Amino acid sequence: METVDSSSIPAKLRERLASAQKVLVLTGAGVSAESGVPTFRGGGNSAVWKGMPFDLISSAEMVERDLNAVWEWFDYRRDLLRDLKPNSAHEAIAIWQDRFSEFTLVTQNVDGLHQQAGSRDVVEVHGSIWRARCVACQEAIEIPRNGPRPNECQSCGERVRPDVVLFGELLPPGAFEYAAHMVANCEICFVVGTSALVYPAASLPEIAKANGALLCEVNSERTPLSNFCDFVLTGKAGELLPLLNSDL
Ligand code: APR
Repeated sequence: METVDSSSIPAKLRERLASAQKVLVLTGAGVSAESGVPTFRGGGNSAVWKGMPFDLISSAEMVERDLNAVWEWFDYRRDLLRDLKPNSAHEAIAIWQDRFSEFTLVTQNVDGLHQQAGSRDVVEVHGSIWRARCVACQEAIEIPRNGPRPNECQSCGERVRPDVVLFGELLPPGAFEYAAHMVANCEICFVVGTSALVYPAASLPEIAKANGALLCEVNSERTPLSNFCDFVLTGKAGELLPLLNSDL
């Protein structure tokens, strides 16, 4: 892989960034890879649980069939995440919320590392591993970092499940619609550390492009989206994103 330095950022992209006000960033598992979070498909080691592929244990079907097994998987992932820290990619993105007058951060990640890095109003289109949700009244309950997770809903006493979008499920009401609205109106859309394979999140860059936004991908590998991008920055997000702030 080429050495990453300030010359890795095309001057044209710097120029556009310097004058932009409406910027949206979409992130995926790759932005957390340098914090030690396993990715699902590309680059890092793929996640398998007790011989079950992640898209089975993380499915609506499993919630019906064996909610305890689903909780075991998410308890394991929360344990993995508990002591992990945001990396320089998360920190670089957090700076942007005060750099651009209209900044939107949309993440597919459920790890909460963007918020830990100081990002506000993060649009979590796949939910959060640090929340549970009642299967009946849908009440969301924060799961403490260093405490037991709730076993039942504090309002109606019903069972609770992870507040994460599982395979075979729709995204949280409003989250995707808000992201789609903001991406349709942005000047620059950055797509960072996602394989761009999982819809509807993967349609957001397409909406940006269709509405005339500049599309910039940051990924350690090429993806199906690369050919549609105006700029493709190939390398680690934690090395490349801080360079975009170097002239701040
Ligand atoms: N910097 C930049 N990109 C990286 C890095 C890194 N350090 N490490 C890995 N990547 C890239 C990989 O090349 C790959 O394209 O990150 C991407 C990770 O892809 P996936 O594992 O498929 O993760 P993601 O795109 O977020 O998955 C989408 O699928 O499994 C579901 O709900 C889950 O939110 C997830 C969704």
